[in-house]
Amino acid sequence: MTDNIVIIHHQELDYRTNEAYKTLRTNIQFCGDDIKVISITSCTPNEGKSSISFNLLASFVDIRKKVLLIDADLRKSVFKGRYKVENAEYGLTHYLSGQNKLDDIIYHTNIFNLDMIFCGSYTPNPVELLSHERFTNMINKLREEYDYIIVDTPPIGSVIDSAIVAKSVDGVIMVIESNTISYRFAQYVKEQLEKTNCRILGVVMNKVPMDKNKYNGKYYGKYYGKYYGTYGEKKQK
Ligand SMILES: Nc1ncnc2c1ncn2[C@@H]1O[C@H](COP(=O)(O)OP(=O)(O)OP(=O)(O)O)[C@@H](O)[C@H]1O
Ligand SMILES: [Mg+2]
Repeated sequence: MTDNIVIIHHQELDYRTNEAYKTLRTNIQFCGDDIKVISITSCTPNEGKSSISFNLLASFVDIRKKVLLIDADLRKSVFKGRYKVENAEYGLTHYLSGQNKLDDIIYHTNIFNLDMIFCGSYTPNPVELLSHERFTNMINKLREEYDYIIVDTPPIGSVIDSAIVAKSVDGVIMVIESNTISYRFAQYVKEQLEKTNCRILGVVMNKVPMDKNKYNGKYYGKYYGKYYGTYGEKKQK
């Protein structure tokens, strides 16, 4: 295990948003104790995968779960910049390319029980690296050490990286930004995921604009999400 890193995370989630993450967390727990390693994808860029990956794990930390965030978006990583992380030299690409040991890329953070694996240096071959057996071996080893592991991935509607990752995880969560994705496109993406034989745990509807009258005219809990039990079926909270 390498040095501790400091995550600067100023964003306090409001009450309703926290409640939404608690609901998502609880629904994941009710998927069964065999569901420990979850990847997060979407149809298109910018729908909220990385934000939800981090906040969901922070919510698991609140109930004393030991968690790991793996940044497997080898094409466009945001975590180091977003959380102002310094001195995390090695990452997933270093391990998958055989340059570093697994221990070199796992960082403890200043958030107790939350460890992170960053994506590492840029690689021209993300698909080849993610397809390497080292990725599956890593997941199988780490699932013994953590209660929950979230793997942040690129949008599956854009590149196949997420479909490759899906083969090594217990389930996939799709993030859909409200009012932006057509039903047909979401269906197409769902079929892509189903081809990996990975379990689709559900859909998180993100960036839901809330009705002005009801919620004081602003996004209800800027990071509010709704959780769909099984695809297309909405669960009442
Ligand atoms: N519920 C929300 N309400 C408002 N803004 C949000 C919400 N969720 C995410 N955002 C904002 O949307 C932008 C994209 O979020 P994020 O980086 O999490 O998306 P992403 O799906 O990981 O993007 P990419 O496909 O580029 O990896 C960020 O600026 C983030 O702060
Ligand atoms: Mg992202």
